[in-house]
Amino acid sequence: MDITSKLTLLFGTLLSLVLFTSAQRCSNYTFPNNQVFSSCTDLPSLQAQLHWNYIASTRSIHLAYKANQAPAGWIAWAINPTGTGMVGSQALVAFQNSEGSMTAYPTPVTSSSPSMQTGTLSFKVSNISATYDNNEMTIFAIVGPLENGTTVNHVWQAGNSVSNGIPQAHALSGPNIQSMGRINFLA
Ligand SMILES: *[C@@H]1O[C@H](CO)[C@@H](O)[C@H](O)[C@H]1NC(C)=O
Ligand SMILES: *[C@@H]1O[C@H](CO)[C@@H](O)[C@H](O)[C@H]1NC(C)=O
Ligand SMILES: *[C@@H]1O[C@H](CO)[C@@H](O)[C@H](O)[C@H]1NC(C)=O
Repeated sequence: MDITSKLTLLFGTLLSLVLFTSAQRCSNYTFPNNQVFSSCTDLPSLQAQLHWNYIASTRSIHLAYKANQAPAGWIAWAINPTGTGMVGSQALVAFQNSEGSMTAYPTPVTSSSPSMQTGTLSFKVSNISATYDNNEMTIFAIVGPLENGTTVNHVWQAGNSVSNGIPQAHALSGPNIQSMGRINFLA
């Protein structure tokens, strides 16, 4: 190997180490507010994780959806009980408000350009709150009972801006259109 190949190899190794260590796995994450969740999954796009406890007695999910985000942006996580993708999904959204604290609320996504205002979902939502730490926004909530079982289609999303308290449209390419899947809360 010549010196250039050696340097290229060294830089490649260093870069992958940095990338590996910065992308912390959900199983190693400790919540700053000391909340503990027994299950989690690293979501495949938007640098997001879902952590949860399934509460069998109420068929509800106590969850934390966490994603990388800049202070001006917003995050959302949703269950779609009637299909896949965004339209019809029952969402929880969070962002930093003009006072600098976090706002979080439920909003049903009724069209491809939804109002993004507070609304009622097809299932109960309680204990909703959000935090912002270390460039990461987290939504905490209890959702359910989930009438249609513990395996659901879910969607997650992120946008760069909020205007007058309303999250603005997100990108329509790349990770923003790959952010959906199916999840079994009992797995
Ligand atoms: C994650 O936690 C496990 C067990 O505590 C530990 O062995 C592992 O090294 C940790 N990994 C990272 C990337 O921090
Ligand atoms: C259960 O599924 C039905 C039919 O798809 C749907 O209309 C209803 O909203 C779902 N229930 C909940 C709680 O999401
Ligand atoms: C949800 O909120 C209720 C009422 O404030 C509280 O008693 C309960 O402990 C909360 N549940 C969780 C899991 O934080």
